Amino acid sequence: MKIRPDLSQLPAYVPGARKETAVKLSSNEIAEGPLPSVKAAMADSLDTINRYPDMGALDLRTALAGHLGVGLEQVAVGTGSSALCQQLVTIVAQPGDDIIFPWRSFEAYPIFARIAGANPVAVPLTADHRVDLDGLAAAVTERTKLIFVCNPNNPTATTITTEEWNRFIDSVPEDIIVVLDEAYFEYNLSGTSPVATEEIVSHPNVVGLRTFSKAYGLAGARVGYAFGAAEIIEALNKVAVPFSVSSVAQTGALASLELTEELQQRVDTTATQRTRVHEVLAPMGSPESQTNFVWIPAESLDSSPQELAEKLADNDLLVRAFPEGVRVTVTNAEETDAFLRAWEAVRS
Ligand SMILES: Cc1ncc(COP(=O)(O)O)c(C=O)c1O
Repeated sequence: MKIRPDLSQLPAYVPGARKETAVKLSSNEIAEGPLPSVKAAMADSLDTINRYPDMGALDLRTALAGHLGVGLEQVAVGTGSSALCQQLVTIVAQPGDDIIFPWRSFEAYPIFARIAGANPVAVPLTADHRVDLDGLAAAVTERTKLIFVCNPNNPTATTITTEEWNRFIDSVPEDIIVVLDEAYFEYNLSGTSPVATEEIVSHPNVVGLRTFSKAYGLAGARVGYAFGAAEIIEALNKVAVPFSVSSVAQTGALASLELTEELQQRVDTTATQRTRVHEVLAPMGSPESQTNFVWIPAESLDSSPQELAEKLADNDLLVRAFPEGVRVTVTNAEETDAFLRAWEAVRS
């Protein structure tokens, strides 16, 4: 078959492990199902499922524009922010171009670079598991087309500061798109991070990315959004698969946006639980988390991350192992109890 030979080099995206009987803390999902009003709106939208969805997602984009304080022409929606990451690469990259990103970070970045035939340029994190913005800036060359900055960073849960960001963004040429991936924005209570809604105003080459998959609890519906200069948004829409965001997803996202208080309650619960987990894991060098997961660095373990994940799985607790460490999703009190019990069991 005339399949592109370079695709054989492509690493496969590894989804979080699944096991029916286990507590699943391997995919950064929330534990609870949709809130009743969201579920009802999504169920109602099934009545017109014979029709294609609104391709322009006008109602949802209008609500998002209001929510973000930007114009309608500055917002695009996609099938999760994953699709928008790929669209962003598609609008800039051709074979031979460079896409820069921190590493370890969201595992789709290098995959999307390779799909476009571009060179993935991975910039190692700092020794304290943070995105190295000076390192990202130093990696820029004539070939650079786009830089991903993940804040907070998945999987290490750390954040960048405005000071570091300002130095970085001022040094990047203004025609290189910088993606500020804020998939975990709602969980970042640090108060010291740059915020994409502000950065897109001062730097038109910055695009913000957020999602309904995490704090909003709609991972299965697949809807995320990008915001930034109208020129970038227009290009993003050109390379989107037509009608890709389903009517059910658009309705669910729209209904979720209205539930500010409920969202805050869920975020508060997660923040309380991550403090509990951090207290136990801090002696292992686990950095403070501004997300709905915590990171256990490999160097603090007496077995490999994979072995630890397997031992926890034997205790019906699923986490995500990377060569550099183990990521554990934080949800509610009950699942945190389950994690702490399993942790105790594998450590003793
Ligand atoms: C940093 C980051 N960006 C983007 C995504 C994509 O999420 P989704 O496609 O569900 O919106 C994820 C998901 O894990 C992520 O961790």
